[in-house]
Amino acid sequence: MEDKKRTLIPLPYFFEEAVLLIEKEQLFAKSWLFVCFKRDLANDGDFFSLDFLGVSIVIRNFEGELKAFQNVCLHRFSKICLHEKGNGLLQCAYHGWTYNQEGKPYAIPAKKSFSLPAESDLRLKQFEIEVIGEFVFIRLANGPSINESIDESTMTSLLKISNALNEKIDINSFVIEVNWKIIVENTLEEYHIRQVHPDSFSPVEIKQSTYDFSNYHSSALMEFGSKLARSKKLDALYSSRPWQVNDYFHQVVSPNLTIASVYGATIGIQQIKPLSSTKTLFISHVFSTKIDNADHALAKAFNQNAIDFNRRVFEEDKEICEAVQIGIEQINHGKGFLSTQEERVWHFEKTYMDAMKEPVHA
Ligand code: FES
Ligand SMILES: [Fe+2]
Repeated sequence: MEDKKRTLIPLPYFFEEAVLLIEKEQLFAKSWLFVCFKRDLANDGDFFSLDFLGVSIVIRNFEGELKAFQNVCLHRFSKICLHEKGNGLLQCAYHGWTYNQEGKPYAIPAKKSFSLPAESDLRLKQFEIEVIGEFVFIRLANGPSINESIDESTMTSLLKISNALNEKIDINSFVIEVNWKIIVENTLEEYHIRQVHPDSFSPVEIKQSTYDFSNYHSSALMEFGSKLARSKKLDALYSSRPWQVNDYFHQVVSPNLTIASVYGATIGIQQIKPLSSTKTLFISHVFSTKIDNADHALAKAFNQNAIDFNRRVFEEDKEICEAVQIGIEQINHGKGFLSTQEERVWHFEKTYMDAMKEPVHA
């Protein structure tokens, strides 16, 4: 029996830059990283670009097909797309080399004045891409397929969530001065709610939690106590919601994607992006769900509530996570203690340590 009562990750893993380099190779490069929503790339020519651990990536819709390339030009290495989102040719911002769906430059200004290698040698680095419902994932290096990485029940849950997403009602990104794993671990337990969020979570009382584990992922379904009695009006308004969560659902899907929902009425999707070993970008997207009467005043109020609730809770989490970072750097060695309410933290640490020990995928 493994001892699930103590933490497993050595404390220096939470602040040493060298560890982030190993994580990049062992964990992030081989994982399916959530990059954007399919609706960001709905039309021919739509593109979305981002940087992840020093890799610039651009994803573009080529007549309905999504392709992901390294966002670095072959000419003299400028980033090709400078904007996060847009619609247009995959054309370098510097001198205008323009690339096709194979990542080959097909239009080069003053082409005759160059002495270029054979056309087949001129090609942008391409990344694997997979779309599950609304979630666009890419993989930076060789690694397990999407079906090996994301188990069937998580896959089903992603499709169900995608189907429920209506409008994006809030986006809130901010930098937290912590290692990315501290944020993930914070989202994985409800043990801190009473202490860190006494007002924001009130009048919610968690009566019972059920956890589900599968390779990298885990989820929690929490049942609220009688304190959150929903009004009959609210229940009636949301009876047509496609994703019927009772009462609170939380899931970690990949190292950089977590999903949470109260009641399936609003859906929070969070991206976690390490910037350095002690700095992380946190992006929270909040969506309303599809219901028959989405314009109802009660639904609007519910949405606004969810926006305020998310912003407030994340602000409280930011503060406590930064306090944890300071403590971990000070203590530097030793193991923490885990309650049964922190079992998902243990599971995360176990899968993380296993991934860090694995030989690099060929
Ligand atoms: S660097 Fe891209 S066209 Fe010159
Ligand atoms: Fe929290």
